[in-house]
Amino acid sequence: MTVATEATPALKLTERINRIEPSATMAVVAEADKLRSQGIDVVDFGAGEPHFATPQHIKDAAIAAIQGNFTKYTAVGGTPELRDAIVHRHAVDFDSDYRREDAIASTGGKHVLFNAIQVLVDHGDEVILPVPYWVSFKDIIRYAGGIPVYIETDESKGFAVTADMIERAITPRTKMIILNSPSNPSGAVMSPEDMTAIVKLAAQRGIWVVSDECYVYLNYTGRRFSVGSVRECRERIVVVGSLSKTYAMTGWRLGYALAPAAVVSAMQKLQSQSTSNPTSIVQKAAVAGLKGSQQCVEDMRTEYIRLRDHVVNGLRSIPGVTCNMPGGAFYAFPNVSSFFGRGGLKSAADVAGRLLRESHVAVVPGEGFGTREHIRVSYATSAAELDRGLERMRKFLGSL
Ligand SMILES: Cc1ncc(COP(=O)(O)O)c(C=O)c1O
Repeated sequence: MTVATEATPALKLTERINRIEPSATMAVVAEADKLRSQGIDVVDFGAGEPHFATPQHIKDAAIAAIQGNFTKYTAVGGTPELRDAIVHRHAVDFDSDYRREDAIASTGGKHVLFNAIQVLVDHGDEVILPVPYWVSFKDIIRYAGGIPVYIETDESKGFAVTADMIERAITPRTKMIILNSPSNPSGAVMSPEDMTAIVKLAAQRGIWVVSDECYVYLNYTGRRFSVGSVRECRERIVVVGSLSKTYAMTGWRLGYALAPAAVVSAMQKLQSQSTSNPTSIVQKAAVAGLKGSQQCVEDMRTEYIRLRDHVVNGLRSIPGVTCNMPGGAFYAFPNVSSFFGRGGLKSAADVAGRLLRESHVAVVPGEGFGTREHIRVSYATSAAELDRGLERMRKFLGSL
């Protein structure tokens, strides 16, 4: 226990910061880094980021921006050029009709989600969140004073989320529904029909849909879809996008929202009192990404499909492991519950912890995503690295 003295007063943090927890994904990354710093060879399936380099034409645009002294403040919500590029890309790919004033650029998709939820969710508002969910949704909702209302999904039905399931969770206090397709962590992809039915239901009831579409371009089902194309419901939709995964730009920090202009304007106000504009140089790079050839995206997508098949086949060949075939993103989400009760293991966190400490394979335990039975395996790495990790997993799980 820390004893407060005059020199070291007891730290009293705000009630709102105490409402939230650090990201489970970041915790795994930190632990794997610690082992690595001790010289241990860790196979890392924990990090949620592409293993590809950022495409050359995007890097060139950033370098040109520096050389051209595009290094000053810009408009808070992004340059007109960037906002137009965001609108253009979405219109071409999803047949939407957003305008510049409906678009805002921020410092990553997470920042966009944070701002959108801050401006739309009040104390005591309920936010419907399908399980498994991406780690940060729950904490961002709580930080805003909202109450996450979890809806369970069925693994045997591919973690599908339907309008019926959502409808059963709606109460007079429901303010927002969060969708995330393709999903982190499960890789599940919602059908365009289910997504459309949900946004129509939400619009009828005056409920917001925040659709996190950060993986929308990493869809392997052949049915890529954005709720932003349901034009008649646009007044209740916030589409969240990011360049992080699409263009292998996680470190650059550029995300965006497409939403009713009044919501964009409120998000801009919040941004003007916190981060201000996303980095000027990154905005130029983002324009190059959004307006340039999309062949790089297609090439990465093709490779992810190959890696997905590789890792899912490998996981399914380990006795006791079951694994759905993910339809998008770059995560496999195997069920490891058949090992509970063996070797003292009781939960996914136990499996992930022992895998890291004893076999030096980093995966993220399902608890951070609302499930105790799964581990998340990121396959954004080489096939050789997947094989190394799979072999270690096979040995560890086989020894139980
Ligand atoms: C579902 C989902 N949404 C949003 C983000 C945020 O990405 P970024 O802030 O890098 O754009 C991530 C990152 O892992 C994610 O998986």
